[in-house]
Parts: sequence; structure tokens; C-alpha cells
Amino acid sequence: MSVALAPGLIHHPGYLDGPACRRLAAEVAAVLAASPPFTPRMPRSDKPFSVRMGGAGPVSWVSDKQGYRYQPHHPETGEPWPPIPPTALAAWEALAAYPAPPEACLINLYAPGTRMGLHQDRDEEDFDAPVLSLSLGSPALFRYGGLARSDPTRSVRLMPGDALVIGGPSRLIHHGIDRIYGGQDLLADDILPGLLPLGGRCNLTLRRVTKAANSDAD
Ligand code: SIN
Ligand code: FE2
Repeated sequence: MSVALAPGLIHHPGYLDGPACRRLAAEVAAVLAASPPFTPRMPRSDKPFSVRMGGAGPVSWVSDKQGYRYQPHHPETGEPWPPIPPTALAAWEALAAYPAPPEACLINLYAPGTRMGLHQDRDEEDFDAPVLSLSLGSPALFRYGGLARSDPTRSVRLMPGDALVIGGPSRLIHHGIDRIYGGQDLLADDILPGLLPLGGRCNLTLRRVTKAANSDAD
């Protein structure tokens, strides 16, 4: 079952069932054991994000005083990022409708009480590919608007196991996380101990960063 929240913004509630969530959480725990979460900082102001992040793939996203960018190595350890978790790659193959694999998997770790302000995902070269989001742990209130920051917004609750495709005419919409609803998690209590406090949430976003050679529709 899927719901078009807007053209190109497709919500797949419960896309991953309980066992698949646990499998993905175990894969994420292995990524983060090899490549520890870090705290990104705002460009210029150097203010820390409240969300902690990890990454996987040939490149992943970092932010610091110098700006936002994708890079092939972890900002603190200097090591290459681990491979993208197989359960996440399978979801991309099933849902992304794009002829090449993702190049980055951002792993956002939300402690209870953290949020992510309204923003666009536009540091990629290829907006033909969607961003695919997979949620684990506590539910979250996802806010989405339009291409202009001032456009009206709506909200949807993202539950553990939900997939959200942010693509097509919605690829560059503003979006953010207003709230984490602790208390019902599949993940934080027993699968990512030490990485997420009780009631935390983990969100993966898979992205294509460079244009695939065969991606041109025309
Ligand atoms: C993001 O916008 O990068 C993450 C969204 C989410 O946590 O659901
Ligand atoms: Fe985003």
C-alpha cells in the first residue's frame, strides 16, 4: 500500500515489517560500530546540529564550518564510509525507479526532543533520482511543504518501517522533523544500545549524488 502525499512524494507505511526493521537496525549498528556517529555543525555559525549522523556508501554527507558537502571519508576518522546496508539497497531497488544504485546513505540519529529544521536536499548533482527515506525506532512528525520556503506545509507521522520516496516534482520540497514521539520503539531499547537513547529514532536517506551515465530520459 502506498499513499501519494503530493506528486512524487510517496509514503509506503510499514514497507519494512518487524523482522526487516530488526535486520536493517542490525546492519546500521554494524555500520556505526565501524564508523562512529559524529555531530555535524552549521556552516559559518559552527553551531552543532542536535541530530547525530553516520554515513555509508562511496560518499556521504558532512557539514562543518566550511559548508555542506559529500565526501568519500568520515570527517573525524578519515576512513572510507562502510558499504550501504543491504536491506536499504534492496528498498532502493524496489522503490526508487532509478537505473543506478544510490551513492550515499545518511544515517540520522534523533534523541528524544531533537528536531530537524525545514530544509531542501539539494547538495546532489542529480535531481532525477529520488531521495529514499527509511525510518526505524520512535515515530516522528515529518513536515513537508513546497519548493518555496514560504509555501504552506502539512505533516505526516513516520512510523518505524515506513519508506518515503521524495522524488519527481517533490524532489526539492522543503521538509523537516518537528517532533520525535518516544515510547514505542522497535530499535533504541535493544538494537542500538549506546548509540541511541531510549525513545530515539534512526532515519536513513539514500541518495544518488552524481548523475548516472544512463539516467537521461531524453
Ligand atoms: C532528512 O531530511 O534528511 C531526514 C528526514 C527524516 O529524518 O525523516
Ligand atoms: Fe532532508
